[in-house]
Amino acid sequence: MKRVLTGITTTGIPHLGNYIGAIKPSIAESNDDGIKSYFFLADYHALIKSHDPQLIRESSFKIAATWLALGLSDRSSFYRQSDIPEIFELTWILTCFTAKGLMNRAHAYKAAADLNIEDGNDVDKAITMGLYSYPILMSADILMFKANEVPVGKDQVQHVEMTRDIALRFNHNYGNIFTIPEAVTNHSQETIIGLDGRKMSKSYNNIIPIFLEEKPLRKLINKIKTNSLEPGVPKEYKDCTLFALYTYFATSEEIESIKKMYAEGIGWGDMKSILFEKIFNFFDPYRSTYMEYLRDEAFLEKRLRLGGEQAREEASAYLKEIKSAIGIK
Ligand code: TRP
Repeated sequence: MKRVLTGITTTGIPHLGNYIGAIKPSIAESNDDGIKSYFFLADYHALIKSHDPQLIRESSFKIAATWLALGLSDRSSFYRQSDIPEIFELTWILTCFTAKGLMNRAHAYKAAADLNIEDGNDVDKAITMGLYSYPILMSADILMFKANEVPVGKDQVQHVEMTRDIALRFNHNYGNIFTIPEAVTNHSQETIIGLDGRKMSKSYNNIIPIFLEEKPLRKLINKIKTNSLEPGVPKEYKDCTLFALYTYFATSEEIESIKKMYAEGIGWGDMKSILFEKIFNFFDPYRSTYMEYLRDEAFLEKRLRLGGEQAREEASAYLKEIKSAIGIK
């Protein structure tokens, strides 16, 4: 059976871009009989980016509540990275098979180092070993569960390539221990546009969270950037953020009728109301479950622990094999 695995860094609140690019296709996979899926909260990856305990904690619960409320199947393995100590043991083993030069080329580290040079600072300023070794931890996440496919955004493809490199180097020495994974990017091919017209991303601070209450959601949608054409003036739907977001939640008939309204000069205020209704109603059936989960942290905690225990059983049996291969009992 095909094994699909992906991680979610716990430094943000799930937004529409995450929904369209990752959550929706992942939930579909979790319900597919031909696939064994692993989805996990990469909370130790979050520690590289954030030293705010409140943020990491809150983000973990919100992400878990979102995925579960939107229908993640129990068939899928759903756990917190930090609940599987075997991953960190494997990280060290892999570290001993990772060329330092390979890590020098990892784009997150390289971008930080290049920026330091550009700014005339010491090349290593404010760069932790966590950032530097980030791809090794990610390799351990992937190899620990023998994943064949790793759905990721384009920015993560390099890390999966590095995982392959590291695994092949290990296998070359010890035989066929690791499964060689492949990055899959078709999930997130589309660039979901945010409030300001750039890619929707927490780093641009232009996101629309999935489960916003009515008023704040209306307010955010009203902030979406448009041009300044008056009502009554025909408008282009191409390159319009309102239209682009609408298409993800509407039927093709609805989309056609909106195109007509653009040609007839719909006002931006009206289009914003239509978009608000669409998004709010789309997620409304799941909202109460989401709120219930968030109120019941004990339930979420239990669910994550259980997922962790199950994943750990697989991980610890496999780690024994790996250790035995390298001569450590
Ligand atoms: N680094 C990934 C990101 O920032 C998250 C992640 C951590 C991940 N471990 C992973 C993704 C393993 C896929 C597989 O998006």
